Amino acid sequence: MGNEDSRRTTKIVSTHSYRGGTGKSNITANMASTLATMGKRVGVVDTDIQSPGVHVLFKVEPNTLKLTLNDFLWGRCEVADTAVEVTSGIVDAQGQPVVEPPGAVFLVPSSTKAGEIARIIKEGYDVNILNEGFNKLGEDLSLDYLFIDTHPGMNEETLLSIAISDALFLILRPDLQDYQGTAVTLEVARRLEVPQLLLIVNKALSSFDFLELSQRITSTYQTPVGAVLPLSEDMVRLGSGGLLSILEPDHPFSRGINELIDFLENDD
Ligand SMILES: Nc1ncnc2c1ncn2[C@@H]1O[C@H](COP(=O)(O)OP(=O)(O)O)[C@@H](O)[C@H]1O
Ligand SMILES: [Mg+2]
Repeated sequence: MGNEDSRRTTKIVSTHSYRGGTGKSNITANMASTLATMGKRVGVVDTDIQSPGVHVLFKVEPNTLKLTLNDFLWGRCEVADTAVEVTSGIVDAQGQPVVEPPGAVFLVPSSTKAGEIARIIKEGYDVNILNEGFNKLGEDLSLDYLFIDTHPGMNEETLLSIAISDALFLILRPDLQDYQGTAVTLEVARRLEVPQLLLIVNKALSSFDFLELSQRITSTYQTPVGAVLPLSEDMVRLGSGGLLSILEPDHPFSRGINELIDFLENDD
């Protein structure tokens, strides 16, 4: 990309999986934070409206939130009004913030209020508003990257936001249910003509041959595998209470996150 000085373009990256609990929110938050330590301005939108969670990784207390993505979707405010800067919550093992300007992370959280979640599930929302919101957010906050943390499975809203993404990171575990579901999701993503498709294998047992697993999945799906991330006791211990890539940059999980960032940074 040549014209950084004149006009910034925001790369929109969706992380998705056919099934839940694959690690979408953790992988998204770790990628976003690591990019911020590299001086990037990053947005994260929690479109998992039915079961939001990525705010936890950034240590955001839901009851401190004044406006959420829900308010924007209901026409109550501008999208940028819902963004919370979480840069200072990205801390190392000593509790010290690690992101320096121009690096920054902004979170657009989804409401955790039962009534508001119920309303969105019942009424749905206009995906055009959401997609316009992504573009507006990128411009208003001069973002280099905008990550969209999605709800698992294939519902209409998720598919339509995947359709406007520059890259789709599809996460799967080494599990037969994930394998089947991922085949279906990939077929849909191909029809939506997402420019960059990447598979991420998460929760791989350390005893597996990661290279062999990666090659097998690449050839089965005819889609590149960006990283194979280990099933990690350290992640379980953290329990979404921190960002492993920041706390332990040399951890095998963190090294995998860096491989994904290389893909994003070197695709053109
Ligand atoms: N590589 C990993 N090793 C061990 N636990 C993981 C790993 N990745 C994610 N987890 C755990 O799995 C659970 C689901 O992760 P999360 O990021 O919330 O997934 P999703 O957003 O796809 O539902 C969390 O408890 C998280 O700590
Ligand atoms: Mg999640």
